[in-house]
Amino acid sequence: MSKLVAVIGQGYVGLPLAMGAVDAGFDVVGVDVDERRVTRLAAADSFIEDITSAQLRAALDSGRYRPTSRWSDADGADIFAITVPTPLREGAPDLTYVEKSGEAVARLLRPGATVVLESTTYPGTTDQVLVPILERGSGLRAGTDFHVGYSPERIDPSNRTWGLANTPKIVSGIDPPSLERVQAFYDTFVQRTVPVSSTRTAELAKLLENTFRHVNIALVNEIATVTPQLGVDIWEAIDAADSKPFGFMRFTPGPGVGGHCLPIDPSYLLWQVRQTSRSDLRIVSAANEINDHMPEYVVRRVQAGLNARRKAVNGSRILVLGLAYKKNVGDIRESPALDITKQLLALGADIRVVERHTDAEALPDGVDRVELDADVLRWADAVVLLTDHDGVDYDLVSRTADYVFDTRHRCQGESVEVL
Ligand SMILES: NC(=O)c1ccc[n+]([C@@H]2O[C@H](COP(=O)([O-])OP(=O)(O)OC[C@H]3O[C@@H](n4cnc5c(N)ncnc54)[C@H](O)[C@@H]3O)[C@@H](O)[C@H]2O)c1
Repeated sequence: MSKLVAVIGQGYVGLPLAMGAVDAGFDVVGVDVDERRVTRLAAADSFIEDITSAQLRAALDSGRYRPTSRWSDADGADIFAITVPTPLREGAPDLTYVEKSGEAVARLLRPGATVVLESTTYPGTTDQVLVPILERGSGLRAGTDFHVGYSPERIDPSNRTWGLANTPKIVSGIDPPSLERVQAFYDTFVQRTVPVSSTRTAELAKLLENTFRHVNIALVNEIATVTPQLGVDIWEAIDAADSKPFGFMRFTPGPGVGGHCLPIDPSYLLWQVRQTSRSDLRIVSAANEINDHMPEYVVRRVQAGLNARRKAVNGSRILVLGLAYKKNVGDIRESPALDITKQLLALGADIRVVERHTDAEALPDGVDRVELDADVLRWADAVVLLTDHDGVDYDLVSRTADYVFDTRHRCQGESVEVL
């Protein structure tokens, strides 16, 4: 009989993991508290770019994947993988979802089972927060009766090159037998697992990866805000620096950072350092400040661009290209483009948005969604490019619009001003 895997949370991380485990031959229940999500999954209607509806249909038809909101369906699972959100609440980690799912898993735990946390979090969450919850709720002892580990997800939505199977996966356990179980599970569908000596190391490695990106983006963003005064094109300078084959890694400026990772994860680390050592991670605080400031900077540049054309934002017609936090995805969580759009609306702009990747109901109040064509480009006093999805005719934008403010360096021509 094949083993039963329960993946808790069927979102951007949990659904691809569930599909990977199905492909590896496991029986998988995908547990989610969001009944609408479960209904969509049961109807083979995928809401995640990386999983096609056909893939989902094949998994359902195989009889080895069952999306459910009933915890009892996961009763007696051999492996529980927890992939629930870890947001911030007033600047502090909010582990409510991890705690609640841990409590539910504890009630279903049987001796010999393995629990692995995948949600991004600060070092110590697995051994100090999750293990006590599991032990309390099950009456069993971690390490003796069941196994526990942490394996951070590295999924990069819409990345066609690196997916779950070919991206190396860090694995860890609270003790050597736990590590062995966790590694054996992922080895069945990930090409290379990278074992580390403790769950805390694995937790920190994930935060280090995301903080590295966050800080480097802040660096180019800050430089981008001073290059206009220097009379230098930041994009040309980045291209030139990128010709160095070692010691430089290309990051590009943009309207700020969004999504579920960069605006949140470095703050988990910052919070923990402040709690435990009373010191600070100054570089993270500075990066937060710089990246958080970018939407306001973009609004100021658009304001100045309109002003140079003898127009005020108030009453101007602004066409926003892209609302998602990054290209080719529909995820608008924490997207700086939302912030910019709301700031422009508050200043009295009349806004239309081109955003094909997101459901209409997710768009902010007061903005109309339109298709990109020459008429709407001529309608606009300003076109503000915030997310550079592929498949958009940037030549048409460059040729037709009176004024383009481009935060992604996709347009060129007389009418274009680049961040
Ligand atoms: N999205 C990414 O690109 C990405 C990449 C790497 C790591 N992560 C991390 O993975 C974790 C999950 O992120 P996500 O993007 O998949 O989130 P998501 O919001 O897409 O999915 C989480 C799912 O968990 C469900 N859920 C919440 N509480 C639950 C509970 N108690 N029991 C069962 N289901 C529950 C939600 O309904 C939701 O469907 C976070 O810690 C995130 O930081 C995300």
